[in-house]
Amino acid sequence: MAKRADSATRRARACQALMDKVHAITATEGINPSTLHAIKLKLVALANRAELFPLNDFAMPIAEARTHPLLIEDDDGHGLYLTISLPGKEAAPHDHGIWCANAAISGRERHDFYRRTDDGKRAGRAEVIKVGEVMVEPGMGMVMADHDIHATEVVSDHPAIGLALYGYALARFPSVSWFHPEFMSVRATASRRHAGDAR
Ligand SMILES: [Fe+2]
Repeated sequence: MAKRADSATRRARACQALMDKVHAITATEGINPSTLHAIKLKLVALANRAELFPLNDFAMPIAEARTHPLLIEDDDGHGLYLTISLPGKEAAPHDHGIWCANAAISGRERHDFYRRTDDGKRAGRAEVIKVGEVMVEPGMGMVMADHDIHATEVVSDHPAIGLALYGYALARFPSVSWFHPEFMSVRATASRRHAGDAR
C-alpha cells in the first residue's frame, strides 16, 4: 500500500509540474504552432517516465477505451488524462474544437490527420481529405490545434496507453464534429462548455 501511495504522490507532483510548464510556455505567447509543439515535447517527456504510471494504479477498459483523470484544473482550465485504448479501438475523423496533445506510455496508436475542403455552407455535409499521419508510440506524441481533424486506430495486439492533455477538461468540452468521409457528412455532438450555466 505504501508503495502505491508513493507512486500516486510522485505522479501528482509530476503532473502538476507539467501543468506549470504548460502555463509558463503559453503565458506570453498563448496557443500557437510553436507553443503547441513545446507542450507536446513536455508531455512526451512526462510519458517517458513510465514508472510514474504503473498499470496497477489504473483500471483497464471493459470495452474499447477508458480515460482516467490525472489533473483537472479549476476555473475552466486544462485537463490531463491517462487513456487506455484496447486493440481494435478506432475513431472516425473528428474535430474537438479545442487543442490537444497526446504522448504514448506504451503500445501504438496511429493518428491520421484530415483537412476539410468544402465551404461548410450545406448543413450536415462535409468533405475531408487525409493529409498526414503520425504513429504515437513510446517516445512519440502528437499535437493538434483547436480545429484540426484526426482519426485514431490502435495498432498491434497490445493496448495503447498514453497521456492526453486537452485545453478544456472533458466535462466542459466544446461540440465535437464527427466526419464520415464515405458519406461526405458531418454530425456535431452537443457542447458541454456551458452546461450548468444560468440562462
Ligand atoms: Fe480525438
